[in-house]
Amino acid sequence: MLNCELNASVQHSFANAEDKLRHYKGEMGKTFDIGLERLTGGVGFPVGVDARARNLAAATEIPGAGRGTFFLETFGCQMNDHDSEKVAGVLLSRGYTQVESPESASLILYNTCSIREKAAQKVFSRLGEFGLKQDEGRIIGVLGCVAQQEGEEIFKRAPWVSLVCGSASYSKLPELVAQVEAGNQRVTGLDTDTDETFETPVTRRDNPWRAYLTIIEGCDKACSYCVVPYTRGPERSRASDSILREVRQLADLGYSEVQLLGQTVNSYADPTARKMRFSELLLAVADAPGIRRVRFTTSHPRDFTQDIVDAIDAQPKLCNHVHLPVQSGSTRVLRAMQRTYSREEYLEKIAMIRGARRPISITTDIIVGFPGETDEDLAETLSLLDVVRYDAIFSFKYSPRPHTPSLAMRDVISEDEKSRRLAVLQEKQREIQTARHSTMVGEAFELLVGGKSRRENQWSGHTSCHRVINFSSQETALLGKYVQVRVTGATPNSLVGEEAP
Ligand code: 5AD
Ligand code: SF4
Repeated sequence: MLNCELNASVQHSFANAEDKLRHYKGEMGKTFDIGLERLTGGVGFPVGVDARARNLAAATEIPGAGRGTFFLETFGCQMNDHDSEKVAGVLLSRGYTQVESPESASLILYNTCSIREKAAQKVFSRLGEFGLKQDEGRIIGVLGCVAQQEGEEIFKRAPWVSLVCGSASYSKLPELVAQVEAGNQRVTGLDTDTDETFETPVTRRDNPWRAYLTIIEGCDKACSYCVVPYTRGPERSRASDSILREVRQLADLGYSEVQLLGQTVNSYADPTARKMRFSELLLAVADAPGIRRVRFTTSHPRDFTQDIVDAIDAQPKLCNHVHLPVQSGSTRVLRAMQRTYSREEYLEKIAMIRGARRPISITTDIIVGFPGETDEDLAETLSLLDVVRYDAIFSFKYSPRPHTPSLAMRDVISEDEKSRRLAVLQEKQREIQTARHSTMVGEAFELLVGGKSRRENQWSGHTSCHRVINFSSQETALLGKYVQVRVTGATPNSLVGEEAP
């Protein structure tokens, strides 16, 4: 599934391209760009281009223009980031203006994450801040996974909230917002039994070159630790013709990289008569004129098949990166997690990817301290790192979640022990990354430039294999361009380089 909770992002609005650039510059430095561009400095507007204006140009009518201002803060994964882009699009098309601080907004929305407890708590601390200012007449709404998880309980905990809407109900969002505008104090959208996906005529995308596009929503897997099937509902795939139409529109608007999103993106099942396989869809997206890179996340090992690797081999526009969460290296723990594969079966998938004609980066997610995890199980996970030698890992301490089967499991691991295991795992990966990075010095990569540093002549961009490289160049207008960069230095967590002549 998608990587969540690495940071919280605020959906900002900017008066112009330079403002946006000023805001983001300086956020450079993370090496592996798993799609959270706010962590990578990968966001910056070229002077003279305003993606919001470009997207809004598509909207013909603005009902209720001048209606009010909204502030939208997003927590969690890329899927939430993209949902927020669509929510912003819905509100902008209703005549709202986006503002940068909750204080100056008439409508405040939090798009929340509940993948781990810490993430879920964040929204309640935000809501607490507003409890003190109830009388100021603002409308406050909670969207996303915490909304779905807590439902109407949120009204009890924070009576100043008037909208609670989970992601499976977003197709009704314009209707729900209209009810809130009409003065309804308790508006909910909490159904998950829907076939619909969240498609809106206007999406306000944050990044002018790289667009997210959700192709499958919800999740039908039943990993025993995971709240997502509960909060995001069952799997719903978007029609392939609608996806391809949007990709062509994105290319016309100047986007050159698209990232297809889904909790289990490769479980895509085209609902149209065309019945496109996921690998066929990848190739069709790459065929859109103007598209230079196509990436996808997150893949589930069970549905990762040879034809996906064949497609990557056949079409260089398909990025050479696969995010393939393993969660544990121990078959015993994988069984308890209900991951539907063994260590050996997972390693067969890795062998399939390693068998490609061009090198493909592999990243993963790992949970430590799952109930009943023994020292031997942890040793299996550590040995898996040695075998696979991942380009990067995202590692988490197990967090018990409501409505999940693992909540009732015995042999709970203490927080201290989970922290110890996490540190051991991260140290192991650090050694692997140190070695991998040092072999990259001298290599050249094509980067899509997405960030400019405060420091003179310093830029950052990401490779097809999704690494971020900070580099120097004498050029003055590189944002959004593709350049060749040679790596000149490496640490376990960063790569630096210079533009290759
Ligand atoms: N506790 C800890 N980590 C979790 N993840 C999902 N659910 C939990 C949980 N209850 C991790 C998985 C997933 C990533 C996005 O978050 O590793 O792949
Ligand atoms: Fe991913 Fe499993 Fe959660 Fe589905 S249930 S989102 S496959 S971790």
